[in-house]
Amino acid sequence: MTKLVLISGSLRKGSFNTALLRAALTMAPGGVELIEGSIHGIPLYDGDMEAAEGIPGAVTRLKDLVADADGVILFTPEYNNGIPGVFKNAIDWMSRPSSDIARVFGNKPFAITGASPGNFGTLLSQEAWLPIMRTLGTVPWFGAKLMVSRAGSVIADGKIIDEATEKKLRDFVAGFAAFVTNYTR
Ligand code: FNR
Repeated sequence: MTKLVLISGSLRKGSFNTALLRAALTMAPGGVELIEGSIHGIPLYDGDMEAAEGIPGAVTRLKDLVADADGVILFTPEYNNGIPGVFKNAIDWMSRPSSDIARVFGNKPFAITGASPGNFGTLLSQEAWLPIMRTLGTVPWFGAKLMVSRAGSVIADGKIIDEATEKKLRDFVAGFAAFVTNYTR
C-alpha cells in the first residue's frame, strides 16, 4: 500500500485549500491510502521554547505521519506572492531537531498544489516552496502542475463544483501516486 499524507497550509474553516485537500482524499487510486495531516495547534517557532520544552506534540505527530508516509502533497495558499507564515512555520518546526530532517524529509517525494481566488492560482507560492524542498532533501515531483485559480467560482461550500478542476485534481493525485509507488527511497 502506498501511503500519502496531504497537508493544507490554511487554518480557516472555509479554506479553499482544505476543500481541495478533502476532495483529493476521495480520489485515492487502488492500492493508495490518503491521509490528512494538520498544522492546527502548532505554535510559532521559538528557539527558547524548543530548548525548554522540546518539540510540541502537534509537530511530533505531523513529523511522524510524514516520516511514515511514502509521499506528501502540500496544498499551499498564497499570501503576498509567497508562502503563508503559518505553513512555513509548521515546516520549520518539522525540521527540528535538524538531526531528524533525513528521517522525515530525506529523499521523500513531495508534490505541491494550491488554490487562490486570484488569476494565478498560487503560482508564486508554489515556486517559493522549491528552495525549501531542496534544502530539506525532498524529491519534488514535477509531473503535473495544478494551480487552481478563481477558486471562488470552482469551489463552493467546501466542494469542487467544476468538472474540469475535479478531473485535474484526480489526474494530479493519480500521477503523483504512480510516481511514488514506483519510487524507491
Ligand atoms: C491573500 N490572498 C492572495 N491571493 C493570491 O492569489 N495572491 C496573493 O499574493 C495573495 N495575498 C494575500 C495576502 C494575505 C495576507 C491574505 C490574507 C490573502 C488571497 C488568498 O489567496 C485567499 O485569502 C485564499 O482564500 C487563502 O487560502 P485559503 O485559506 O482559502 O486556503
